[in-house]
Amino acid sequence: MKKPFLPTTGVSYSDGEMFLERASLASVAGAAGTPCYVYSTDAFERAYGEYQDAFSELAPLICYSVKANSNLSVLSLFAKMGGGFDVVSGGELARVEKVGGDPGKTVFSGVGKTAGEIRLAIEKGILFFNVESEGELEAINSVASEMGKKAPVSIRVNPDIDPKTHPYISTGLKKSKFGIDIREAPAMYERAAKMGGIEIRGIDAHIGSQIFDISSFEDSVKRLVKLLSDLRQRGIGVDYMDIGGGVGVRYGEDDNPPPLGDFAAAVEKIAGGTGCNLILEPGRSLSANAGLLLTRVIYVKRGGGKKFIIVDAAMNDLIRPAFYGSRHEIAPVRQNGGGKMEVADIVGPVCESGDFLATDREFPPVEAGDLLAVMSAGAYCFTMSSNYNTRPRAAEVLVKGAEFRTVRERESFEDMIRGETVADFG
Ligand code: LLP
Repeated sequence: MKKPFLPTTGVSYSDGEMFLERASLASVAGAAGTPCYVYSTDAFERAYGEYQDAFSELAPLICYSVKANSNLSVLSLFAKMGGGFDVVSGGELARVEKVGGDPGKTVFSGVGKTAGEIRLAIEKGILFFNVESEGELEAINSVASEMGKKAPVSIRVNPDIDPKTHPYISTGLKKSKFGIDIREAPAMYERAAKMGGIEIRGIDAHIGSQIFDISSFEDSVKRLVKLLSDLRQRGIGVDYMDIGGGVGVRYGEDDNPPPLGDFAAAVEKIAGGTGCNLILEPGRSLSANAGLLLTRVIYVKRGGGKKFIIVDAAMNDLIRPAFYGSRHEIAPVRQNGGGKMEVADIVGPVCESGDFLATDREFPPVEAGDLLAVMSAGAYCFTMSSNYNTRPRAAEVLVKGAEFRTVRERESFEDMIRGETVADFG
């Protein structure tokens, strides 16, 4: 039998049983129930350490992108390692604060910041806003002026670069909703420099996610450096250069992310002499392979010449296969010592044909009650989950060595209907 590819860091089999670090996943499922997300402390710490090591020359501020995995325990790990944060909502900023993360090391991106969010971020003292439009710049200026403060900003520019990734996660193309056309940026900086409620701190670009091609990053950083020198010529000083999210990760055996050292060397070559403080906003590469999703087989069904493995996790728990056509490796938690591999769809209970975790996958024989582990589920899985079909959002568990703790309880029915009422019109 072909050895399964297990990209989640710290997953191994011992006596035919799958472990994450030294914790038995069968025990985790017994204690927390299924479906549940299981994360490895060591994997988050390792991934963060790899960025620090690779970029040791430039010593960037590593702003973990909270949207990838915003569990309080996960944020707390990054805060304790001295990391900063990249947030895109008032809610994410509140999470950072809740775990003692430093707002002064937090950048705030996103195209639709509301006046309330802007006020909150100024009150908390964030490092800077990544401003994505003229209207937003004006809104920040007016909120800050009302508060008698100067709001720190950088302008997110759109460098018009194709990062050759999934269209839904390409953000730096001219047609994308993000950022300001880089050619219009100098004029906007000039306007910002004259605003009483604005303090210019940086320049920023983010071109997309799950990028394997270093040359896309190089092109983007080159354009930022060019913009920087243009701004300096105009007498506009900038202290920070934020180059956006991290590199892509391995979901499958054929994925070849560039070594972080190569990424760092490329950035250093282009931006090393600028005197700017460098900011990175990695999300996925710090968290995707720090987790997995545990799910239990409910039924095995055959029909129409197909085999369906019906499990208790669904698209509401992990939408990436349905939404982006993403592949996540899946493996049984207990190896049953052989048996013929068969092609199957691994599907959930949700009433949608798009509800699948895998299609046409060669899979060993399994039975109702068996546990499966869906790999690389530490980023953009729980955070994208929903209550569709009135399914409770899954529990989250954090492992450290042989120990584990539930860090988010499974939702109850009462949690799911909280705030709902039956209208009474008399
Ligand atoms: N900074 C900004 C401004 C971003 O928009 C993102 C991701 C990041 C940083 C982090 O990028 P990363 O290092 O994770 O590549 N739900 C999708 C991914 C959406 C990414 C959105 N922005 C998925 O599951 O593939």
